[in-house]
Amino acid sequence: MLAELALRLATPAARMTRKLGLVTESVALWSRGLRQRRAWAEHHTRCRAVVAQAVAELPARRTAVILGSGLLRDIPLGLLCANFERVLLVDAVHLPQIRLRMRFRRNVTLLTRDLTGIVGWLAGESDGRSDPLVDLVADPELDLVVSANLLSQLAWPIEDWLADNPDRAETLPPDLPARCIAWHLADLGRFRSRVILLSDVDMIERDRSGAIVDRLDLTRGVELPAPDESWDWPVAPFGEAARDRESIHRVGAWPDFR
Ligand SMILES: C[S@@+](CC[C@H](N)C(=O)[O-])C[C@H]1O[C@@H](n2cnc3c(N)ncnc32)[C@H](O)[C@@H]1O
Repeated sequence: MLAELALRLATPAARMTRKLGLVTESVALWSRGLRQRRAWAEHHTRCRAVVAQAVAELPARRTAVILGSGLLRDIPLGLLCANFERVLLVDAVHLPQIRLRMRFRRNVTLLTRDLTGIVGWLAGESDGRSDPLVDLVADPELDLVVSANLLSQLAWPIEDWLADNPDRAETLPPDLPARCIAWHLADLGRFRSRVILLSDVDMIERDRSGAIVDRLDLTRGVELPAPDESWDWPVAPFGEAARDRESIHRVGAWPDFR
């Protein structure tokens, strides 16, 4: 608990990033990942294998971009650093331990960025979405883009913020959370490089008898093509979020998304 508080305070972040709960969530994900290291291992191994396979297939390896890099648990960072001239890690939050680790990686750059493109709009600083990837899409040296378990995380902070700010919500499109998901998919389609999409797409909660007690479409109704690979990620085994409930996410991998 104290470590989480210290980490939240030590993490540099913009005001809206904090208000959207993204720092708290990153810290929570860090500590849950430590507790659930064994339960999450297969998910991370499979994600890293999809990226490693794509790297082996690429004809050129100049710049790799990881969108939603976070704690890098799903990314074979050593492999990327050894193979690419530049590795760009893009996330709204880079925790201090990641910042420290990356100081020793000479070809890694951290970019702190909101990938929904709507944070300025929510704050009343602009009249619409700004393009979060304009510079990266134009970069002629990109050979690989990975959207790393980011997609499903784009909607809930906006939903929570709209619920907490009803006056502001009245002036904004009600389907903004789903639009953030659709925009990210459209953004991925703009890259000319190889694009890998890794994302959880569905959540089910089960009780100890195995009965499904809740279900959530993590893409908020936005359609995706069938994934090339899929697997279950036990995000919250029994006892993690609730004593008698487990939460399992279905993950898809699209190794060549565009
Ligand atoms: C489920 S985590 C995955 C992190 C990383 N790929 C890993 O497995 O360690 C989702 C990541 O998306 C980031 N994220 C969520 N909303 C974001 C936004 N609007 N802009 C940029 N990053 C965002 C979070 O900060 C978090 O690092």
